[in-house]
Amino acid sequence: MALYHQTVDFLSNSWANHRTQLPLLAVTGASFTLGVVLRSLFTGRESGETLLPSPRAKLLPGLSEAENRSLPLPNDVLPGARDVASPYGSIRIYEWGREDGPKVLLVHGITTPCIALGGVAHALVDRGCRVMLFDLFGRGYSDCPADLPQDDRLFASQILLALSSSPIAWTGKESGKFCLAGYSLGGGIAAAFASYFPQLLSSLVLLAPAGLVRDSQISFQSRLLYSRGLMPESVLGYLVGRRLRAGPLVTPKPNNKKLNAADALTEELPSQSAAEVQILSRAYPHINIPSAVAWQVNNHTGFVHAFMSSMRHGPILGQRQWNTWARLGEYLSAQNSISSNDEDKKGLPNDKIHILCGNNDAIIIKDELVTDATAVLGGNAIFKFYEAGHEFPSTKYDDVAAYISKLF
Ligand SMILES: *[C@@H]1O[C@H](CO)[C@@H](O)[C@H](O)[C@H]1NC(C)=O
Ligand SMILES: *[C@@H]1O[C@H](CO)[C@@H](O)[C@H](O)[C@H]1NC(C)=O
Repeated sequence: MALYHQTVDFLSNSWANHRTQLPLLAVTGASFTLGVVLRSLFTGRESGETLLPSPRAKLLPGLSEAENRSLPLPNDVLPGARDVASPYGSIRIYEWGREDGPKVLLVHGITTPCIALGGVAHALVDRGCRVMLFDLFGRGYSDCPADLPQDDRLFASQILLALSSSPIAWTGKESGKFCLAGYSLGGGIAAAFASYFPQLLSSLVLLAPAGLVRDSQISFQSRLLYSRGLMPESVLGYLVGRRLRAGPLVTPKPNNKKLNAADALTEELPSQSAAEVQILSRAYPHINIPSAVAWQVNNHTGFVHAFMSSMRHGPILGQRQWNTWARLGEYLSAQNSISSNDEDKKGLPNDKIHILCGNNDAIIIKDELVTDATAVLGGNAIFKFYEAGHEFPSTKYDDVAAYISKLF
């Protein structure tokens, strides 16, 4: 228990403390810590593993029907599940709704599997849409490639793989294009994808998107913590795993306090009371995000790696992301200045980007997002605010779906 508190403190205290705590951890941390650390040192990527498998192949086949039903993330948690083999590992995709309905692809955030957007997806299907969701590499039932950084390139590849595995056409002349909607890290992923493939989209919806997070928002300590080389990977992995298992932060953060990365990741989780009323899976109404995430930390061999790699390399902040958004803004401005009746001008090329966010979001600060996104996109952005925090897509799913379905 002492170790547990030390570990949590470790992640939320200053970098200066860390120097004293790390040796302390080794000394007081008992053989359990050492065992975990040593085991991961010898069985980790050092041994040449390139794929960290999801619980799908190893854990599911041994379970009874009752155990299957009581999993925090059942195998058929959403309708239309399929597993698609790829050179990067297996990808879990869910797709359902009218085949001729307007299409929406939803991309989830850094911590949760795609079930976090299950409420939005069900509500979109109610409104006649066709929806697709997939688990990002290293989350839910998607494997994790261990030797590739979780950056724009990997995520764009994963989106294209998901689209091309559908029995119906999501791209091409007859497809009607699709709406791309991304939440948090998924918002950064969606913006980066749109900056390269705007012509594939009918609209772009960003829900509390990462990508333009100001450097000043992420504390110095967190950047040190998640940058490579300062600490053995396996020690870091162990510590992050402990912090993730601890779940959402209970005390509200003072406005002027800088968040560290560990705080940021738990913000995606709704409070326990909100988690109890939301229905993300209609087949399994009891499913909630905090327990699905806790289960994933324990049972997905690639999750901690995926989380850390996304923190380091993912589309969250920095000049490269700013340039990506600027490219998207320039594209939209150029489209708007062409006057023609070209069919291609329908949808994203002739539209603005829709940015939805919470008034009380502690990571994606509303005022900063509005200022920065307006500037970088050259004014090609429309905003909508909800009286909620960062978790709003998993609590206000009906409102979000109503907004998206009006874009068609
Ligand atoms: C539990 O689910 C897994 C994965 O869908 C399946 O392979 C297994 O056969 C199921 N167990 C039973 C008893 O149905
Ligand atoms: C999966 O995670 C849970 C904790 O949520 C743990 O109790 C269980 O032992 C894990 N299952 C396996 C097979 O590792």
